[in-house]
Amino acid sequence: MKKVRKAVIPVAGLGTRFLPATKSMPKEMLPVVDRPVVQYAVDEAFEAGIEHIVFVTGRNKAVIEDYFDLHPELVGTLEQAGKQAQLLSLESLLPVAGATSFIRQQSPQGLGHAVWCAREVIGDEPFALLLPDMVSFGGRGCLAEVADLYAETGGNVIAVERCDPTETSKYGIVGCGADVGSGFEVTAMVEKPAPANAPSNYYINGRYILQPEIFSLLGNQQRGAGNEIQLTDAMVRLSQSQAFFAQPFNGRMFDCGSKEGFIQANIAFALARDDMKEPIFDMLQEFVRSHERRVEAA
Ligand code: UTP
Repeated sequence: MKKVRKAVIPVAGLGTRFLPATKSMPKEMLPVVDRPVVQYAVDEAFEAGIEHIVFVTGRNKAVIEDYFDLHPELVGTLEQAGKQAQLLSLESLLPVAGATSFIRQQSPQGLGHAVWCAREVIGDEPFALLLPDMVSFGGRGCLAEVADLYAETGGNVIAVERCDPTETSKYGIVGCGADVGSGFEVTAMVEKPAPANAPSNYYINGRYILQPEIFSLLGNQQRGAGNEIQLTDAMVRLSQSQAFFAQPFNGRMFDCGSKEGFIQANIAFALARDDMKEPIFDMLQEFVRSHERRVEAA
């Protein structure tokens, strides 16, 4: 079984759900507490054993490339000010030289198209895919769990989580087959099914290990929903010749591409930090109390 060494992180989308903020700022740079959303995906990938990250970027996304570069003026200023702790913390977040590639998706034609743009850099190897606006919270990191199942099964592995059964039409939903290790065999993948047609309430949460054969399928793929090249359509075609397995995530994924998920993530991560949990908890209690008073008075 070939080792998974590389990960693709697509960051070329327009982020229309987060307008107007995303008009001039990539949604992947929105901060959850004090780190941009994309930093969480990068940390998760390296922690899962990934050696090289391929970012698929687009117009107005240069700030992401700059973020993962050394900033000599900032380093100089922090050194002069004796802010060693801050300096070390910044250094620890920087990928080692040569561990990242940036390629361009010239126009946002969909997630499937963004993944296809990485084909030359990935080559003939299985690879991980992380959607950076999905931020993993708790557990060991979602990709590490996916990689563990992959080590047992090979093939293609996707992370899943349960959604409210009435909300299947918001997600890509999988059908559940036989249990395999900590996961199960995938029997179907359906994009945004109505609850009555959904094969389960397990949704695909944005972490994958895929075999390189996906690229040729993406390359000759018709446009699907939203007139975009859809990754799920290519995975359905790949599943006709290769096995797919699902790993239920033992933590929780926050969809930071949506306003609600972004606010939830900020609260969850702040409450998990020793330096912030008490004031944030007190503030939340106060907010809830005054909200309840307003509801009662209305
Ligand atoms: P989304 O579908 O959440 O991103 O894609 P979007 O299209 O930017 O967002 P909305 O729906 O308009 O708000 C998930 C990830 O895939 C990237 C996005 O940048 C995001 O990180 N993506 C999406 C691309 O790189 N290229 C695309 O053509 C589409």
